[in-house]
Amino acid sequence: MHTPRPLVASRPAAPLAGTIQVPGDKSISHRALMFGALAVGETRISGLLEGEDVLRTAAAMRALGAEVLHDGPGAWRVAGRGVGGLVEPADVLDMGNSGTAARLLAGILASHPFFSVMTGDASLRSRPMRRVTDPLAACGARFHSRAGGRLPLAVQGAADALPLEYRVPVPSAQVKSALLLCGLNAPGFTRIEEIEATRDHSENMLRHFGAEVAVEADGAARIITLAGQPHLRAADVAVPGDPSSAAFPLVAALLVPGSRVRIESVGLNPLRCGLFATLLEMGADLAVENERLQGGEPVGDLIVSHSLLHAVDVPWDRAPSMIDEYPILAVAAAFATGTTRMRGLKELRVKESDRLTATAALLAANGVRVEIDGDDLIVHGGRPPAGGATVATHMDHRLAMSALVLGLATAAPVAVDDGAFIDTSFPGFVRFINGLTSAAALVAAA
Ligand code: S3P
Repeated sequence: MHTPRPLVASRPAAPLAGTIQVPGDKSISHRALMFGALAVGETRISGLLEGEDVLRTAAAMRALGAEVLHDGPGAWRVAGRGVGGLVEPADVLDMGNSGTAARLLAGILASHPFFSVMTGDASLRSRPMRRVTDPLAACGARFHSRAGGRLPLAVQGAADALPLEYRVPVPSAQVKSALLLCGLNAPGFTRIEEIEATRDHSENMLRHFGAEVAVEADGAARIITLAGQPHLRAADVAVPGDPSSAAFPLVAALLVPGSRVRIESVGLNPLRCGLFATLLEMGADLAVENERLQGGEPVGDLIVSHSLLHAVDVPWDRAPSMIDEYPILAVAAAFATGTTRMRGLKELRVKESDRLTATAALLAANGVRVEIDGDDLIVHGGRPPAGGATVATHMDHRLAMSALVLGLATAAPVAVDDGAFIDTSFPGFVRFINGLTSAAALVAAA
C-alpha cells in the first residue's frame, strides 16, 4: 500500500548557499547494473543512485541470476553471468515506477530463451510498451500484454535471437537501448537508426565493457551498429551526478534572491545538457569549472547564482537533450520576463505522467498564465507567480520537485499532494534543499 507524503515549500529565510553533490545519474546507474549482469567477472560501481527506480533494476538483475552486492553508500558489486547467461526468474519482475528499467529489461529478456513477466506501479502500467515490444518481436521473442501494450507484460524470449535492424520513429534512448541490449545476444550486426540523437550512455558503456559499437552521424540522425555476442568484460563504473537532478537545486538557486550554490561532479554529456544551454540563453549566471572525463563521460562542477531571467524560444530539436527538464524549465520561465515557448514536447505526454498537461496545470494553479499549443508549452512570465496551490503530482517525481522549487520563490507557499515518488530519483531531496538554507523551507504538510 502506498502512503502519500504531502509536502509544502515556502520562501527560505535566507538565500540558498553551499557546495553540494547530487545523487548519481539514473540512466547510467540502471545501465551499470544491467551491463554488469551481462559481463563476465565482477563490476564495481561507485556513486550508484540508490533511488527506488534503480533498486528495482538491482532486484531484477538478482532475480535473473546475477550476484548484486551492496558494499556501502553508492558502492555496489555485480558478478555477471555473461551475454546470454541470465536465467529464468522465479517470480514476476516488478519495475515499480521506472520506464527505463522496464523498457531496457524488455530488450534483455527478448533474447534470453525463457519465460518472464514484468509489471509496475499504476503510473508504469499506464505507459506505452509497444514502442519496444513491436521492434523487439523481430528477433523472435513473443510478448503478451494488456490492451494498448500496457504492463503486465509476459515475455517468451527467443531461443536463437535474430539481429535487429530498425529505424526508431520516436526520439527515445530507452527504445534504442532496449534494441542494443537485445542485440547483445544475437549473432551478426544489430543496426539502429535514430532520427534525432538521444542520450548515448548505452553506446558509451557498451564500449567500456568491450563491445564493438560503431556510430555514424548524419546531421542530427545517428546509425548505431553493434557487433553481436561480444565477450563483455566486467569494468568499473564511476557514476557522475545526475544533471536531471542537479536541475532542481540549480533552478532553486537562480530563483531565490542572493543565492549562490556549487554543484560538484555533475554529468555533462552533451546529449543531456539542453537545460544548461537554455538557462544560459535566458541570462542565467551559470558557470562550469573543473571539466574532466570520468569513466568515459564528461563531468564538471556547476556554479550558479541568483539571476534575472528573460524568455526564450526553445527549439524542438533540443528536446531530446533536456526531455526530463521541461517541468523545472517551465518553473524558471514563470519568473522570466516575456513569453517562453518550448517546442515539440509530444514525448512529455508519455512520461511518468502526462507531463505536458500536468506542468501546465502546476503553473496555472499557482497563478502563472500558461498555454498548450499543439505540442508546445507557452509560459507567460513577467508577473511573479503567486503560489498558494496544492499541486497534483500524478505519481511523478519531477513534477513534485518542480512544484516544490516553485514554492521556494512564490509569495505564498506551494504544496504537493504526494512527494513520496521523489525517492525514485532523488532520495533525500527535502533534507538536501533544506541543507542549503538556514531554516527548513520544505516541510511535511499538515
Ligand atoms: C532515459 C531516457 C529518456 C528519459 C528517461 C531516462 C534513459 O526517456 O526520459 O528519464 O535512461 O534512457 P526516452 O528515451 O523514452 O525519451
